Amino acid sequence: MANITIDGKPFTVKDGITIIEAIDEVKSELPRYCYHPGLSIAGNCRICQVEVEKMPGTVIACNTRVAEGMVIHTASSKAKESQQVVLEFLLANHPLDCPVCDQAGECKLQDYYMEYGVYDAKFDENKVKKTKKGVSIGPTIMLDQERCILCSRCVRFGDEITKTHDFGIFGRGDKARIDVYPGKELDNKYSGNVADICPVGALTDKDFRFKMRVWYLGAQDSVCPGCSRGCNISVQYEKNRPYHLKNERVMRLKPRENMDVNKWWMCDEGRYAYKSIDQNRIREIRTPKKSLDWKSALEETAALLKKASPDRWALLASPQSTNEELYLAKRLFTDTLKWKEVAFKAPGEEGYEDNFLIKKDKNPNTSGAQRILKSSEDVAAIVEKAKKGEIDGLFIFSRDLAKAFGAETLKTLRQKVKTIIYLGTNGNPTADAADFVLPGAVYAEKEGTFTNFEGRVQRIKKAIEPLPGTLPDWDILLNLSGLLGLTLKFPRPEHIFEDLAKENPAFKDMNYKKLGGKGLVWSP
Ligand code: SF4
Ligand code: SF4
Ligand code: FES
Repeated sequence: MANITIDGKPFTVKDGITIIEAIDEVKSELPRYCYHPGLSIAGNCRICQVEVEKMPGTVIACNTRVAEGMVIHTASSKAKESQQVVLEFLLANHPLDCPVCDQAGECKLQDYYMEYGVYDAKFDENKVKKTKKGVSIGPTIMLDQERCILCSRCVRFGDEITKTHDFGIFGRGDKARIDVYPGKELDNKYSGNVADICPVGALTDKDFRFKMRVWYLGAQDSVCPGCSRGCNISVQYEKNRPYHLKNERVMRLKPRENMDVNKWWMCDEGRYAYKSIDQNRIREIRTPKKSLDWKSALEETAALLKKASPDRWALLASPQSTNEELYLAKRLFTDTLKWKEVAFKAPGEEGYEDNFLIKKDKNPNTSGAQRILKSSEDVAAIVEKAKKGEIDGLFIFSRDLAKAFGAETLKTLRQKVKTIIYLGTNGNPTADAADFVLPGAVYAEKEGTFTNFEGRVQRIKKAIEPLPGTLPDWDILLNLSGLLGLTLKFPRPEHIFEDLAKENPAFKDMNYKKLGGKGLVWSP
């Protein structure tokens, strides 16, 4: 360990770390462009200047290691002057684009200019123009060459993280410019991350570009439901606008740092999957007696479930459900109604996998479903029984049987099974074929937890209100439980989770507070 002083305060930090790592560890402030904790050190932007006593001039904090007794100043007049001079050089050829630049509001050049800027510019010369302005460089990203400050973060991301070697810096001196290699496109499964790490508006995300000024965005921490990795994300939505003015409420997803899960990154498939939140949503209740409101629809459903033979009804649960919902489903269908046919695994829910983040299992909560339902039965086995006429009713959570087993199978099931109840979020042929349709809320509209592939239990949080006409599955299940004589007093999902933690050893001693923002790995 090394004893150092930063801005007059003593700290003990790990030996051998850089000054910028020490500054971040003690939560102090220092400007930076090229430094990114997930990439190698380039030391090329020079903005992170600090004064170190007994060293001449100033030094860059990202490429200088701490030493015992080091006295560091991040905001002395000498340090500030160096930071200002560097900033002035970086701005020498930067266009005055802020009013029309989509990065405004989250641009580090803009932010540091406000904080450290030399407002009385010394450059009279015309700015050197770089030619590529608003050019598409692949399916997801636009390049504005003249805004680039040549920090090389995007180059290092392609070289070190995706190993796709997309970007290079071409030319010399004031003609140096960032570009993709000739004949190459930025087209890899993690391309959206370069817009996140570009500190200025040189690389912007086509999907979000000009959609909304960032200061109108609200943000909520959550977890991507796209695969069993469970990348930590920030769900960013439009604040203070009623839904009817727009047909899209969530504006973008951004990765949230969790060193144990996704570090600083997320894949493109997960990033752009937010569109399903407001596309093709089920918003209308459907029942045989044409109930129009939740109260009568749930009473009608409960009356049917009360009469259902436990040997001839089956629950097709979903690994898209939260732990809380799976637990309520278990309490209701297995423990109370004594149904024996319970399954959650279906074909067609696996896909591409790599050795970085993307997992084969496209469900966020398969581990939770395994531990909570303790059912090994495959959905396919129940579908086979149903096809032979051995099942009278199916209660299906968010699963399209046509996609998993083909349209013909769904048609046969429709002929052989007397009643199909569907609880889900987005329209599909199974919902169309069901007798009862109960519209559920998507992950961004509710609270709960998912358990990822390695047993990490992580919270999802409500970013936006459930669409009118929909209810979170946990709420629907609690209401049904009450109507079926199971009194569960759980005002909110955190109380359901506490009960689950008492009952199921995998979740022992966990609660929402302990899960915090990064989750906890359950007991093996
Ligand atoms: S495009 Fe952005 S990330 Fe890439 S070198 Fe330029 S400023 Fe840095
Ligand atoms: S790797 Fe999986 S969890 Fe992570 S962003 Fe992609 S789909 Fe989502
Ligand atoms: S952040 Fe240190 S030189 Fe760029």
